[in-house]
Formats: sequence, C-alpha cells, structure tokens
Amino acid sequence: MNYQWYPGHMTKARRMMEENIKLIDLMIELVDARIPVSSRNPDIHTLGQNKSRLIVLNKCDLADEKITKEWLAFYESQNVTAVEVNAKQKKGVGQIQSAVQKACQEKIERDRKRGIIGRPVRAMVVGIPNVGKSTLINAIAGRNTAQTGNKPGVTKGKQWIRLNKSIELLDTPGILWPKMENQITGLHLAMIGSMNDEIFQIEELALDTIKFLQKEYPSLLAARFPSCEGLGEAEALRCLEGIAKDRGCLKKGEELNLEKASNILLDEFRNGKLGRFTLERPND
Ligand code: G4P
Repeated sequence: MNYQWYPGHMTKARRMMEENIKLIDLMIELVDARIPVSSRNPDIHTLGQNKSRLIVLNKCDLADEKITKEWLAFYESQNVTAVEVNAKQKKGVGQIQSAVQKACQEKIERDRKRGIIGRPVRAMVVGIPNVGKSTLINAIAGRNTAQTGNKPGVTKGKQWIRLNKSIELLDTPGILWPKMENQITGLHLAMIGSMNDEIFQIEELALDTIKFLQKEYPSLLAARFPSCEGLGEAEALRCLEGIAKDRGCLKKGEELNLEKASNILLDEFRNGKLGRFTLERPND
C-alpha cells in the first residue's frame, strides 16, 4: 500500500511542533481508542522530552468498551495518566482538567520548590490528522473560557485559551504524522478511515476488514450482514458478495458492484453502525 504522508508533510509538521513545544509544559496526546498504538506517533518521545504527558483515548463511543478499560489499566500500570473521552458528544471531557493537574504534579512541585506558585500549566493538544483534535479543543474550551490573547515572548498569532486559573491551552493543535512502520499499522489506520481511501485498493481493504470482523466480532458482522453468517476467513469474498447482493450493489448487466459494497461496509464499520470495535490490545 501507498500512503499520503510524504517527507514534505512530515518536515512541515515537525517544524511546527518543535516551535510550539517550546511554549508548553504538557502535551495532551490524543489517540484513537480503536487503535491506540497505530494512532500514536513514534517520534513523540524525542519531540516531547521533559514535557509532561496526558494520553486521551478519543472516539471511545466507537471503541470496544471492554478493551478501552484494558488500555486504561495498562497505562495506569505504566504510570501514565490517561482518560477516555468522546469529544464529539463532550463525554468525559470534564475529567481532563483534573487529569492535567495529575499529569503535571511533578512540574507543579518543581515550580513550588523554586518559589514559583500559581503559574498556570500550559498545554497543547497533539495527534495525527482526524483523531479529533479540533473537536476536543472546542469541547474543552466550552463557552465560558476567555481567550487570553497574545503574550510577550510568544510567537505572534498564538492564542491561549484559559480553562481556569491553573490551565491554559494553546488553541492550535500540534499535528503529528502517523506511524507507518509496518503494514499492520497502515492497515489499521486505513480501516478506521484515517487515510485517504483513494490511495489503496478499497476492495482489498474491505476484505481485510471482513477477516478482522470474522475473527474478532463474528456475531456483530452477522447481525448487520446476515449473508456473512457462518462464513470463515477464507470466505471473506463470499461475505462481500453477499453484502453486495443484500444491498443491491449491481453494475449494468447484474454484475455485482464490489466497490460499492466495500464502501458500504467500511462506512458502517467506521461510523459505528456495525458496532464498537477495537483493533489493538495492550501487549499485543
Ligand atoms: P483533527 O482536528 O484531529 O483533524 O480532527 P477533527 O476534530 O476535525 O475530527 C475529525 C472527525 O472526527 C470529525 O468528523 C469529528 O466530528 C469526529 N470526531 C471527533 N471526536 C469524536 C468522537 O469522540 N467520536 C466520534 N464518533 N467522532 C469524533 P467529520 O466526519 O469530519 O465531521 P462531522 O461529520 O462530525 O461534522
């Protein structure tokens, strides 16, 4: 497969991140709860050295609730502050403020020892495209927050949103490039719709998605697409053909339109109509 992230994109995103990272104490790292590994960026450790970190598992409304809990327990075992949210419906967003304080405890303590008391924590939301950064910023900012305006020493044009007297959020998110280290990562990003569908074979992607569902969530697949009931992974194509028949996806002359059926399956998989799925577990 071929992806849309080229070195040019990456260089620009990295430059922006490096510029903004200097201004903050805390990175609110947004990941997709369905693929917490593949939607994280591998360079974040070097980029965010000496910064506190808070992981936000977003789109938890689309993810498998049980596995989201496993992820939260995993992060806790690693001493990493993490929360689950549904930024679109503003669910769980309220926990972010206290999680920020928790994630920045060390910094606040360090400041206190140096006699700096009450300086607000400055945070920035970072994440790969489409993970929900703008939605989250809007959800956190709400109506009652004031924009603080430009500050001396801060790059011109940067706006800070004051959440309360102890937290300020940069209103521009940091865009991270997806991690494209292996085929599985690329496949998972493609399955949840994080990449431009035009760049790969949509039918192949649909077949891989069917195989995943057959293995991990067969009853949800069969409930939505009865013609897939009882079909094994070797029969993924038959399942796709069944979807095409059931949904009337035909070309001229009664030939099945598998491309159309693939789009239907992927849309319903991505927008939650088929159910809630998580593609990656801790310690996989
Ligand atoms: P970005 O800044 O990181 O690029 O992402 P953005 O906020 O633009 O969100 C990308 C898409 O993800 C949007 O959908 C947004 O509504 C959706 N989204 C964000 N958070 C959540 C969430 O917690 N749950 C769900 N289900 N969706 C979420 P869109 O299709 O581009 O726009 P719209 O149709 O929702 O308006």
